[in-house]
Amino acid sequence: MKIRAFGHALPKRSVTNEELTRFLDTSDEWIQTHTGIQSRRIMTGGETLSLLGAQAAKMALERANLAPKDLDYILCSTTRGEMSFPSTACLIQQRLAAACPCLDVNAGCTGFLYALDVARAMLESSRVKRVLVVCAEQLSRLTDWKDRGTCVLFGDGAGAALCENGDGLKTVRLTAEGDAASLYGWPAGGNCPFDDHIPKEQPLKMNGQEIFKFAVSRSQRDIEAVMDDCGITADAVDYFVLHQANRRILDAVRSRLKQLAEKFPVNITTHGNTSSACIPVLLSEMEGDGRLKKGQTLVLSAFGAGLTTGAAVLQY
Ligand code: UT7
Repeated sequence: MKIRAFGHALPKRSVTNEELTRFLDTSDEWIQTHTGIQSRRIMTGGETLSLLGAQAAKMALERANLAPKDLDYILCSTTRGEMSFPSTACLIQQRLAAACPCLDVNAGCTGFLYALDVARAMLESSRVKRVLVVCAEQLSRLTDWKDRGTCVLFGDGAGAALCENGDGLKTVRLTAEGDAASLYGWPAGGNCPFDDHIPKEQPLKMNGQEIFKFAVSRSQRDIEAVMDDCGITADAVDYFVLHQANRRILDAVRSRLKQLAEKFPVNITTHGNTSSACIPVLLSEMEGDGRLKKGQTLVLSAFGAGLTTGAAVLQY
């Protein structure tokens, strides 16, 4: 499999740290020093996941000179879809006026890597020629806006990758260590009169320090494993494109790999953590501003709820 083009879309509304101090016991200084975040984009005014997802998809299609009718499958990675059903992939398909099968995948913030692996399997089966992976995330709807330990971290956005047959994706490594204790959220349970154990809806809960340690150790492990698989060293990699959960996690992984800051692109500063959309949004921005060029070697790495992790080597 290779990726032919990326696309992305972000909500219009940018929310600064200073705005959060108006209703939370926090400060711009704390958020910046502990996370690297200055602002994040939040969906407002009728923006929806399928709208952003379709905008991201259109950008990828335009960059690839393709039309929605050229798509054989749409895979949408989302931590919680726009609706319980239909899938967000179907809603995006409707907006694109495409005519292919659609499926949502949920691997938390690792969703882009998981979706790439599913896309690769579909392409290898030769049943499809072109798969659109869209990561569409609205974490602002899942967080508790009274919990300063989590709500300051997240943002909304969508990223897309157009996948075709080729040999750009050199290897993918995925892991899951089933554990709902350190990072979870509950949906509304309904009102079935026969079940007296229906959980109430609960926003995102996270043990930040546990996830921090998990993220640094597993990211280093996964990155070294995929480089090893491909017989390359860190010095041969043009960019390490990592999940944007915390600037300090990026710095810790970078220093363990003994690499320069320029090789670890960042958009957490202005976007916050957009879950599975972080990596495709960042790659699309790099494609737009010329940092990302055909032929470059990229290492992708993410971690998230599950707990899941994923890493890949991709020659663009
Ligand atoms: O996408 C995957 C999921 N998420 C992550 O990867 C997140 C991983 N974890 C982290 O990024 C960090 O653990 C956090 C940013 C969540 C927290 O940073 P920390 O340096 O681990 O802070 P902490 O939880 O140890 O809290 C230190 C202090 C506490 O006060 P006390 O008990 O020392 O008085 C917190 O109550 O900072 C306080 N605090 C805040 N203060 C101001 C926590 N959040 C805030 C805040 N503003 N927003």
